[in-house]
Amino acid sequence: MKKLFLLFLLVVPVLAQAKEVTSPNGNVKLKFWVDDKGRPMYEMSFKDRPVVLPSHLGLELARDKHASMGLSERDLMDGFKIAKEENSTFDETWQPVWGETRDIRNHYVEYAATLSQQWKQPRVTAREGERGMYEEQHERTIVIRFRVYDDGIGFRYEFPQQKELNYFLIQDERSEFRMAGDHTAWWLPGDYDTQEQETQETKLSEIRGRMKEAVNWGNSSVAVFSPTGVQTSLQMKSADGLYINIHEAACADYATMHLELVDAETKALTTELGGGSNAYTPAPKPSRYPLPEPFTFVSHLTPDATGLKGAMQTPCTTPWRTVMVSDDARDMLSSNLILNLNEPCALDDTSWIHPTKYCGVWWEMIVGRGSWHYTNDFPSIHLDQIDWSKVKPNSTHKANNENVKRYIDFAAKNGLDEVLVEGWNVGWEDWANMWKRDVFDFQTPYPDFDIQMLNDYAHSKGVKLLMHHETSSSTQNYERHMEKAFQLMNRYGYDAVKTGYVGDIIPRGDHHYSQSMNNHYLYVVKEAAKHHIMVNAHEATRPTGLCRTYPNLVGNESARGTEYEAFGGSRPDHTCILPFTRLQGGPMDYTPGIFVTKLSEWSNNTSWARITLAGSLALYLTMYSPLQMAADLPENYEKFDDAFQFIRDVACDWDESIYLEAEPADYITVARKAKGTDNWFIGGKCDENGHMAIVKLDFLDKGRKYECTIYQDAPNAHYETNPQAYVITKKTVKAGQTLKIKEAPGGGFAVSLKAL
Ligand code: NOJ
Ligand code: CA
Repeated sequence: MKKLFLLFLLVVPVLAQAKEVTSPNGNVKLKFWVDDKGRPMYEMSFKDRPVVLPSHLGLELARDKHASMGLSERDLMDGFKIAKEENSTFDETWQPVWGETRDIRNHYVEYAATLSQQWKQPRVTAREGERGMYEEQHERTIVIRFRVYDDGIGFRYEFPQQKELNYFLIQDERSEFRMAGDHTAWWLPGDYDTQEQETQETKLSEIRGRMKEAVNWGNSSVAVFSPTGVQTSLQMKSADGLYINIHEAACADYATMHLELVDAETKALTTELGGGSNAYTPAPKPSRYPLPEPFTFVSHLTPDATGLKGAMQTPCTTPWRTVMVSDDARDMLSSNLILNLNEPCALDDTSWIHPTKYCGVWWEMIVGRGSWHYTNDFPSIHLDQIDWSKVKPNSTHKANNENVKRYIDFAAKNGLDEVLVEGWNVGWEDWANMWKRDVFDFQTPYPDFDIQMLNDYAHSKGVKLLMHHETSSSTQNYERHMEKAFQLMNRYGYDAVKTGYVGDIIPRGDHHYSQSMNNHYLYVVKEAAKHHIMVNAHEATRPTGLCRTYPNLVGNESARGTEYEAFGGSRPDHTCILPFTRLQGGPMDYTPGIFVTKLSEWSNNTSWARITLAGSLALYLTMYSPLQMAADLPENYEKFDDAFQFIRDVACDWDESIYLEAEPADYITVARKAKGTDNWFIGGKCDENGHMAIVKLDFLDKGRKYECTIYQDAPNAHYETNPQAYVITKKTVKAGQTLKIKEAPGGGFAVSLKAL
């Protein structure tokens, strides 16, 4: 009898009342239901304040030419009934291979709704006349799974393998996020190929008006899709002080998500590409569903060259869509929601993965005082037709034996682990923006780079060289050469590679953030792991926490890095925004540490970095990364050796991190305890207005004394007029004391606390 009753519960559809799920401490509440058209809907609140108003979920599918009148014609948007509901809780603490804290607690309440979509369709037979004579019953099942945390939610779509859903093409995902007001947002224009824009700060209603000037038209690959399209991670703040962040977690075998805002002027979801160097893709098809209300963000996936957004084979899932929320900005920075939504580490042996401090033959080329390429004598290069030993060298090639040795010496003297060398391999003469497929082989050094000698020299001094593979976005070329390139790295003792994807993607028409490109980036990471190689990918898709599963992905650029200080500069508040946005998905290879900010002091470049020297030190704390560069030239550091002591000392792996002060685009102050030690480091960074940091040392061990060294802006320091004015003070401190540290406009501070 009991068994029968249970069976009955399973097969009878649940009535259309909302299911409510509450986070472990009760702060976050989620409601889920299916509306009268059978469309899945959810809403979300924080401490009973609305975060996401009732919003639809679903996917529009493409008409697949292979499925002749096939089942994938029906969208996964409506006609659903809840067939089954499952609830559970999860509470586990895990240890990342590297990270901001030694332990990470993953504590959530889970709710999964199995949705059944049933419909009748005329049966189609070979004989025309029979059309419509028979009706066939169809059924498909999907699961929408929610995880409700104290600081936000994640949800994803799951597609079990089933008779009537095996392969399908996505026209677009239509996950909605209806905001409860005209929030302030820190956003980048939605773009299929670049995320290197300056962040805009506007109300939601002002996004459309700001879009044109927000686009980075100067980037070498640009594809804008909508006058209200923005990227994730999107940080917002409501008028009543809620911090809300929308992003995604575990984006694998799926396209990167953008958000298209519906505002008062929206007539339809985007049907046209907005322009840019790489806007060749067919325009997206218009949505077949009614427009949501203004202030609703609708997911917008990155297409591939066909204009489609995803080719799926069940069983499969989408990435998690994340909405983080708090009434305290510091919680946005300490949240582990995105890492927690990723799968545990997939590598058995991680002993070869290590946090790394490095310098490199890099900044002098970026600034323009040297070149990656070796010769100026050819209008173009055919890699297989050149005898490099006979080529006339230019005098600007920086990856030469003598210069590389200088950097190795500098690294050895200052305890830096590795030296990046860019421009070591043949092909840089015509590498970018030519749509040239066979651009590099990643194996042949230029004649003045003695790969054996330089690696031996480095190793004899306890230093490693860091490999560079600029793919020039020619991805098939890279995949063809990759195995040999990794073998070469193993042969000479390299254990980390910086990759790069400058320019429009080859094969032509594809985009940096499409499903196919996301598969490429992950393929590189997995292949590298087989060779015990760590990866730092520039221009690749923005991270979504996959470094939990593949911890050899130690860094990404995927935003506007320090290189832009040589291309006209970035605003002083830039680094007070990135931790709220770009860094949510994983660490950034921001390449900090510029001490000589006026580049004309040593080059012909008139650009300048909008930061004080003490502010540059702060970035080693506020911009968390297990990979940290000391980006300036050795000779520039030698002029400020007392300040460089901080870069020598600072750790890049942590047992504990405590965000002490934070406000997006204004200031961030963080204290971190170095892994396996009792030593702490504190960093504070502020925008153009300056900041008075109040640091209560109540996190130190009671009764213990610490040798405290403070590197701070001098009273008259200013990022524009007096950036190199800093003061270093030493004193003994203990728990309970308070440090008051004034940060100059565009400045910051760094503190080291050595346990005595
Ligand atoms: C862009 C990267 O961000 C930069 O670091 C690198 O030097 C150039 N591409 C050349 O690969
Ligand atoms: Ca870049």
